[in-house]
Amino acid sequence: MDLADLTRDLEALQVEALAAVAAASDAAALDALELDILGKKGRLTTILRGIGGLPADDRPRVGAVANTVRTAIEAALAERGDALRGSELEARLAAEAVDVTTPGRPMRRGTLHPSIEAMREIASIFEQFGFVTYESPEIEDDLTNFQMLNIPPDHPARDLWDTLYVDVEGRLLRTHTSPGQIRVMQTVSPPIRALLPGRCFRYEAIDASHGSEFFQVEGLMIDEGTSMADLKGLLEQFAGAMYGADKRTRFRPGYYPFTEPSVAFDVECLVCGGSGCPACGRSGWMTILGAGMVHPVVLQYGGLDPERYQGFAFGMGPERIKMLKHGITDLRLFLENDLRFLEQFR
Ligand code: DAH
Repeated sequence: MDLADLTRDLEALQVEALAAVAAASDAAALDALELDILGKKGRLTTILRGIGGLPADDRPRVGAVANTVRTAIEAALAERGDALRGSELEARLAAEAVDVTTPGRPMRRGTLHPSIEAMREIASIFEQFGFVTYESPEIEDDLTNFQMLNIPPDHPARDLWDTLYVDVEGRLLRTHTSPGQIRVMQTVSPPIRALLPGRCFRYEAIDASHGSEFFQVEGLMIDEGTSMADLKGLLEQFAGAMYGADKRTRFRPGYYPFTEPSVAFDVECLVCGGSGCPACGRSGWMTILGAGMVHPVVLQYGGLDPERYQGFAFGMGPERIKMLKHGITDLRLFLENDLRFLEQFR
């Protein structure tokens, strides 16, 4: 090995290295090249081992050439590295770009069951008149469901409530929310403005207007000097809020053992407006609830002095209230939980 050979090898290495650097396709390939050529056991080092066999005068010359070659290769590596890293970043940015204008995935929202929704609607109207919502048991005793409501054991009025009994003597599934009146009177002192929504049960053949399981909302107001006029005014406000203030209403005589006098409260037919159609049995009116002045016997069972306190009560079916409002003709839709029906109330 002489000076000329070493110089030639070094220059050949430079040419080859520069070509390889230019051809490298990614940063990893460049790293491998750098190690192969400039690394501790790289090819440049291998060539320079030949220096030991040269005369002392020639050594610095080879050193100078080697430095030039090293610098040139290092510069080429750096430049190519920058270029590759730049385009790799660009490629990544392009690949990972987020299109912020893409519509989001829709969130599936549930809704309240129309029966529950109806009860909330009813409560929100009566709340404006100071009514407070209470709960009362679904399994009742005969005493509270019937006797304290002025329905003695052998009274023919019992036929109005076909009853489901549980196999505990004297216990039954409440047939209406009216026993809640007794429970409120026994625990809250007047003035009372109570709302009692809840599930009721009857031994009933199921058809378009009857179910064996349904909801009721009971109302009770007790105070000194409460009159039928208060009842009428309140119910008119309720009907106005629920169906529109322009709707006509009327009281009709009715019968319930726990109220005296008792009434049925009607609103003009929401389908025909009062002229008469099949929906209202051609009467022009639809009954939305039963009501009346609380019977003195019931007040007494509730622990109140009928000489001092009077009051009124009313009871309605939230499904019926909703059916009239939306022109729904079959109560069974509320019980079947068919999504095609329920989703219409979104
Ligand atoms: N409890 C009655 C029923 O199930 C509804 C009712 C009527 C409740 C008149 C009342 C009322 O409070 O005064 O049919």
